[in-house]
Amino acid sequence: MRTVRVSIIGFGAVGQGVANVLIDKKKYLEDIGLEFKVVAIADSRTAVIDPDGVDLVSVVNRKKTEGTVGDDKLTGLEIIETIDHEVVVETTPTNIVTGGAGLHNMLMAFKKGRDLVTSNKGPLAMKYGELIEAADASGSKFRFEATVGGAMPVLNLARDVLAGNTITNVEGIFNGTCNYILTRMMEEQAPYEQMLAEAQELGYAETDPTYDVEGIDTACKLVILANCVFGMNATHEDVTVTGITKITPEALMLAQNDGYVIKLIGEVNDSRINVAPKLVPIDHPLAVGGSLNVASVQTDLAGPITVTGRGAGSVETASAILSDMISIYRE
Ligand code: HSE
Repeated sequence: MRTVRVSIIGFGAVGQGVANVLIDKKKYLEDIGLEFKVVAIADSRTAVIDPDGVDLVSVVNRKKTEGTVGDDKLTGLEIIETIDHEVVVETTPTNIVTGGAGLHNMLMAFKKGRDLVTSNKGPLAMKYGELIEAADASGSKFRFEATVGGAMPVLNLARDVLAGNTITNVEGIFNGTCNYILTRMMEEQAPYEQMLAEAQELGYAETDPTYDVEGIDTACKLVILANCVFGMNATHEDVTVTGITKITPEALMLAQNDGYVIKLIGEVNDSRINVAPKLVPIDHPLAVGGSLNVASVQTDLAGPITVTGRGAGSVETASAILSDMISIYRE
């Protein structure tokens, strides 16, 4: 059995999702020869540290009832710097203006030679090259499937599963909030504002939904794809972006009458990165409804490969994180 010591830095919906899947998948992990022992958890106010392994069930319950994880005052950054462990699970909130705490956490993890798995797209959309260099310099493994499309596997699909293929284009829906709003506006012939409120109630939207509806969240995900899959050195400022705020129920109805839906489509290839609402034929593989994400990867050998899945959610995003953790440590 290989024991891997873990910290979870950031204990919102995604961090709690990771704790919950580690509880639920303990036996599965044992069967493949792995024990992920969580030795520290930090949220924005408190921390819990136990070198013998934190009691995940009681921390998840305490977070629910008291809103804190423990009594220790070490910050996430201090935990990464001072507590012995192998892998940091970085799930602090995304900030694409400064990179937020996530950027410092990631750089510290690499400075200390720790591996890192994250769902936090902000630092990667801003400083991809710097982060990869820092990880390489210290020999740290760095995986970030959860940053693009939540549970939908697209980065590892393009990079690992389709290895040997040349990827010529990736396009799809990378924001569940926008897809939900457009789908519901069409179904209900209801105004944009009403359906944005519904998407927020369901917890799909970012803390600041402007990032979702103006297409910036999609742009950040495309930048990560551009850098990871096409070897670019782009930031979100290199993306041409149009959001969905000007789309009306009438436009959606006119499109539907002609056999189309309107979707916020992100597209990346080696010459352009673009986000804009587009008309998609109703029977096209990209015309998925609800809050789903979808990605179509064009390849030279395998042809087009299309995947769809849930782009957000606590356990769904934790699924991508767990898969990255397993892929680092499974023999
Ligand atoms: N707010 C994002 C979405 C969630 O709606 O897809 C995760 O990036």
